[in-house]
Amino acid sequence: MSQPHLRLLFSREHIAERVQQLAAAINRDYPDGEILLVGVLKGSFLLVADLARALGRPCLIDFVRLASYGNETSSSGLVEIRKDLELPIRDRDVLIVEDIVDTGLTLEVLYRHLLQGRPRSLKVCALLDKRCHRQAAIEADYVGIRLEEGFVVGYGLDYQERYRHLPEIYLLEPGA
Ligand code: IMP
Repeated sequence: MSQPHLRLLFSREHIAERVQQLAAAINRDYPDGEILLVGVLKGSFLLVADLARALGRPCLIDFVRLASYGNETSSSGLVEIRKDLELPIRDRDVLIVEDIVDTGLTLEVLYRHLLQGRPRSLKVCALLDKRCHRQAAIEADYVGIRLEEGFVVGYGLDYQERYRHLPEIYLLEPGA
């Protein structure tokens, strides 16, 4: 792709509002007590930070990193765990925090892997849900924003490691 063009899709205010709504829904569903947030690196680093503060309750925080092989903007379905949990999850309420669910293949591998740690509960919170490409039979329990087609960057999401720092979310359009 030559120099891509970024088109603003979601402002920082819009994202903040959705994060508050996610936190409110999670707080309604979970009994009192700690939730263990498992952020999926690198894309979820901003969401974990904002969600943990919006939840306003005790949280434990851990991160995993998965690599999926594919071309620049789509996944091949081959997923490898590059960095595993550091905290034990047995008998804990565990919430996977994902930036975006696209084919769902990454999430499916992670979900199955975490189940082996025998958590008390295991749910998924995703800021963005791109259902049109779904290949795995897995759904996020909490979704901030549903998206149609398109590759997005910003608020943790990258294209070739760029744009993660942007506070807004943009649609990446091919350059001229
Ligand atoms: P999946 O396995 O196809 O669901 O995609 C998993 C990963 O692909 C996400 O966690 C992202 O890191 C990346 N991804 C999928 N769609 C996008 C996008 O539109 N922008 C940036 N990264 C994406």
